[in-house]
Amino acid sequence: MTSGKPVADRDHFIRSNTTLLAPPLVPEVLLHLAEESLPIWLKTEEELGRDGLPPPFWAFAWAGGQALARYVLDHPETVTGKRVIDLAAGSGLVAIAAMRAGARSVLAAEIDACAVTAIRLNAEVNGVAIEAVEHDLLAGGLPAADVILVGDLFYEKPLALTALAWLRDCRDAGLDVLIGDPGRSYLPRDALEAIAHYKVPVSRELEDTTIKDTAVWQLKS
Ligand SMILES: C[S@@+](CC[C@H](N)C(=O)[O-])C[C@H]1O[C@@H](n2cnc3c(N)ncnc32)[C@H](O)[C@@H]1O
Repeated sequence: MTSGKPVADRDHFIRSNTTLLAPPLVPEVLLHLAEESLPIWLKTEEELGRDGLPPPFWAFAWAGGQALARYVLDHPETVTGKRVIDLAAGSGLVAIAAMRAGARSVLAAEIDACAVTAIRLNAEVNGVAIEAVEHDLLAGGLPAADVILVGDLFYEKPLALTALAWLRDCRDAGLDVLIGDPGRSYLPRDALEAIAHYKVPVSRELEDTTIKDTAVWQLKS
């Protein structure tokens, strides 16, 4: 599914290759999700005519995002009345949870155009207004926001290093930063402290287990 395709094509691709499902830890949110990873991954590659693409992340509710969405819904004071960014939003699960918890506004940032379309469709299904943008915030300066939420972004080393530096700048400027992560390979544990723990049901197709121990983390000062 190429970013160059018209939005209507992306809408169609998402609607016809996903099912409306609730992530196990966040049953109050419905998302366009893939029930199996391989078919939608292969179809994405067919559409692009390319092999070796990353999975369509937006079609799954990752452990880190599920934990962070649960945390935000159960601790609405984290976001109520605030301008929130969901960085690396994927399906938009965390963004939707933040709006449901009373955020003043939520910007969902992605680098995948198909994710931006999925976020828009998922926001509609859940009856919340979210601004979804295809934009690499990590390549820019401080955003106009009060809270940055990050679900499951620490899976590649260069990305993890860039994200940590940018999130530290945000924190130093007074923004709140919360990260949901099951301890991916490049999670900078030494720089973080866990504030909540969850056992997140996940797909064995995507993970090495069916329950992923996952935490919500803050940057250490
Ligand atoms: C594992 S998924 C997590 C999605 C969602 N937060 C969740 O927890 O379900 C990681 C996402 O990060 C996105 N991503 C990677 N680099 C990014 C960047 N620099 N800015 C925004 N999104 C990025 C990918 O496109 C992908 O959708």
